[in-house]
Amino acid sequence: MALDYQPKIVGFLCNWCSYAGADMAGTSRLTYPPNIRIIRVPCSGRVDATLVTKCFQQGADAVLVAGCHPGECHYSEGNYHARRRFTVLRELLSFLGIEKDRLRLEWVSAAEGKKFSQLVSEFSAEIAHLGPRKDNGKAAGGSL
Ligand code: FES
Repeated sequence: MALDYQPKIVGFLCNWCSYAGADMAGTSRLTYPPNIRIIRVPCSGRVDATLVTKCFQQGADAVLVAGCHPGECHYSEGNYHARRRFTVLRELLSFLGIEKDRLRLEWVSAAEGKKFSQLVSEFSAEIAHLGPRKDNGKAAGGSL
C-alpha cells in the first residue's frame, strides 16, 4: 500500500456537543488529520442508514458519528437511538462487503477538544491501516 494513502472520512457531528468539541480542538490549536470532512447534524440520532450508505456510495473510506454523552442529548434520547442504529448499521455494512470498523460512533462533549483531536487521529490511522475499501465502492452501489 502506498505510504501516502489518505483515507476519506466523513464525520457527522451533533451540533450541541461534538461539533463544539471539534471547534474547541480548533480554538485550542490542537491538530488532527485534515482528511475528515465534517457535517454538522442537529443530533447523532439524525444519522440514519441512508446518510451512512450514501457516504460509502460516494467513495468515503469511513464514517464517524459523534454525539453528546449518554444522558446529555439535547433531544433526550437521540444518542440512544444512534447507539441502537449503530449496531444494525455495522451489520448492514458487513452485508454490503464493507468492514464494520469503517463506521465508528463516539461521544464527544463541547469541552473535549483534545478527545476529538485524538479520536480523529486514531480513527484516521486505523482506516489508513485497513487501506482502501476492498469492494471499490461497488458493494454500496457507487464508484470511487
Ligand atoms: S443533541 Fe447531541 S447527540 Fe443528540
